[in-house]
Amino acid sequence: LAVEYGLEAPYEIEFHESIPSTNARARERAEAGDRDVVVLADEQTGGRGRLDRAWASPSGGIWCSLLGSPDLPPAHAPIATLAAAVAVVEAVETVGVEAGIKWPNDVLVGEDERKLAGILTEMAGEHDRIDWLIVGIGLNANVDPEALPAGATSLRALVGDVDRRTLTQALLDGLDDRLGAPDSVLEAWTDHSLTLGRRVRVETQSETIVGEAVDVAFPGTLVIETGRGRRTVTAGDCEHLRP
Ligand code: BTN
Repeated sequence: LAVEYGLEAPYEIEFHESIPSTNARARERAEAGDRDVVVLADEQTGGRGRLDRAWASPSGGIWCSLLGSPDLPPAHAPIATLAAAVAVVEAVETVGVEAGIKWPNDVLVGEDERKLAGILTEMAGEHDRIDWLIVGIGLNANVDPEALPAGATSLRALVGDVDRRTLTQALLDGLDDRLGAPDSVLEAWTDHSLTLGRRVRVETQSETIVGEAVDVAFPGTLVIETGRGRRTVTAGDCEHLRP
């Protein structure tokens, strides 16, 4: 099937015309003991986003999940998510789209910051080693923006339809490079950040933090200057506020 999709990669490629969710499928493969697999689909019928939200995945998008076992402690897994956002931004640059990243990993375009891609990472690990890591990437490629939720856009709307094969290859190559060089990720992420320097509101599991986003630190935490000291957040939902 890798050959059918025409991709070259140091992992097995499993392609589906239609599947509920590439992340769910990658998880089945993970639990069966498989590693180094990419699950790709033209359409998802039950795509999932962060915070248990649904993810619209009509035919024509790039819906993909990479299953691997990077040599990282579980606490460092967020760096893989940031790496994926960087890989998406760099891949869409090759088709003339300038995108940026909202912490931690939303890929947005334009002044109105429409969402072009999202990333959902899942992981299992014991003690100090990741057992498996799934990086799920949803890139709105050759899809009508009307088929997407409000606030989202697609490559079709921005530059017209793209060659998905070439773009997916660029994405997987970029992701592979970045996962192999985690030390390069924060600098590249910072270069593409839309969040640093902005006023933000971050909802964590336990509280809401408002302030200026001043820095990103390994393995992907956001540093916020609140006016009453600096806070570091590891996970949460970030909203850019008007200055
Ligand atoms: C987000 O909420 O921003 C993350 C969206 C992640 C969507 C991708 S599409 C491929 C993979 N399979 C899924 O069901 N979700 C991820």
